[in-house]
Amino acid sequence: MILCLSKETREGERRVALTPDVVRLLVQKKHTVWVEKGAGEGSFLSDEQYEQSGASVMPRSEMLTQPGLWLGINPPDSSLLATLPRGSAWVGLVLAAMHPGVVKAACDAGLTLISLDAIPRISRAQKMDVLSSQANLAGYKAVLLGAQALGKIFPMLMTAAGTIRPSKVVIMGAGVAGLQAIATAKRLGAVVEVSDIRPETKEQVESLGGRFIELKQDESVRIEGGYVKGVSEDFLARQQALIAQHVSQADLVVTTALIPGKKAPMLITQAMVEAMKPGSVVVDMAVEQGGNCALSRLNQTVVHRGVTILGEANLPAHLPLNASDLFARNVLALLELILNSDGLNLNREDEIVAGCLLVEQGKPVHPSLIQP
Ligand code: NAI
Repeated sequence: MILCLSKETREGERRVALTPDVVRLLVQKKHTVWVEKGAGEGSFLSDEQYEQSGASVMPRSEMLTQPGLWLGINPPDSSLLATLPRGSAWVGLVLAAMHPGVVKAACDAGLTLISLDAIPRISRAQKMDVLSSQANLAGYKAVLLGAQALGKIFPMLMTAAGTIRPSKVVIMGAGVAGLQAIATAKRLGAVVEVSDIRPETKEQVESLGGRFIELKQDESVRIEGGYVKGVSEDFLARQQALIAQHVSQADLVVTTALIPGKKAPMLITQAMVEAMKPGSVVVDMAVEQGGNCALSRLNQTVVHRGVTILGEANLPAHLPLNASDLFARNVLALLELILNSDGLNLNREDEIVAGCLLVEQGKPVHPSLIQP
C-alpha cells in the first residue's frame, strides 16, 4: 500500500507527520512513500530531503490517482476525505468527539479511519502516543510563552541595586503537559506551586521541585485507570476557594487540567483573574476543550484588568522541529504494528488496534460509534 504524506492545511500548523529520517526507514522496509509537495516546509524539511530518503514528491492531485494510506496530523477536512480513492485509509488525529463529521465522511467515502488520539495510554503503546509526545513539548512552550508575556524575570537576582524575588508560577494539572511545565518553570528559576486531584501526582510534583497544594479528596472524585473520570461541582467550588489565594499571588498561571472526553474543568473564575496582580499572565492550555479559565478565548490574547490570558490551541506547532520528529517516530511505531508487506493488517483483537480503529472500509467498528 502506498504511504501518502499529506501537507497540513490548518492555519498556523508547521508540523508534518513523517520526517525524511522516518521515510528512509519505511523505504528500507520496502514501502512506497509519496510526499505532497511542500509537506515539510513548515518544519524546514525540503522536498529534496524527502526525495533523497527514497520518497517521490508530487502534487496532491497525482497522489489521488491510487488508493493509499494517508498520514496527517490534524483532523482532515471532510471535503478532502471525499476525494480519496475508495479503499484508502487515513491515519492522524481525529478527535472524533469534537469532529463527528470526519467519521461520517470516512464512512461515506468507504475509507479506513485510524485515530491517533484514541490509542490507549498503555505501556506497550507509549512509543505511539502522540498526545503525550506533543503535550510534553506544549508544556515547555506554554511556560516560555508565559515568561515572554510577563514583564519580569523568573529567577531570584541579587544585584547592587537590590534583590529581585523569584517569580511565582502556579500550575493546574500535573499530567504530561503539567509535569513538563513544572520542570521548565523550575529550570528558569521560578517558585512553582501545583494543584492536581490525583493523589499520586504529589510525589511526582515534589520530585521536580514543585510545591503541591494539598486538597482534601471526597467521594465525588472518580479516578479510573489513572485518569480523573469526573468530579462534582461542589468539589470544584472547594478547589477554586483553596487555589484562589495561590493564584492571586502568582505571576504566571499555566492551566492543563483535563478530564478525558469531557469539557475542561473551570478552575480560574473571572473573580480569580480580577484578584491577580496587574502584569500577571495566565496560559490556558485547555482552551480547545472549553478552557480552565473563564476568560480565555481560542487562539486569542485577552487582557483583562492588566492580566494577560493566552489561549493558544496549537503550542506544538511552535516547536515544529521537535514536534514533527517525535510525531513521525510515534507514527512509525504504529505503522510497524498495522502494516505488513501486503498492506494494512488490522487485528482487532489487539488492544491498540481496537482502541484507535474507528472505521474499516467505510464501516464504523469502534465501540463508541456502534449503537447498542
Ligand atoms: P493529562 O491527562 O496527562 O493531564 C491532565 C491532568 O489534569 C491530570 O493529571 C488530571 O489529574 C488533572 N486534572 C483533572 N481535573 C483537575 C482539577 N480539577 N484540578 C487539577 N488538575 C486536574 O493531559 P495532558 O496531555 O497533560 O494535556 C493537558 C491539557 O493540555 C489538555 O486539555 C490537552 O488537550 C491540552 N493540550 C494543549 C495543547 C496546546 O497546544 N494548547 C497541546 C497539548 C495538550
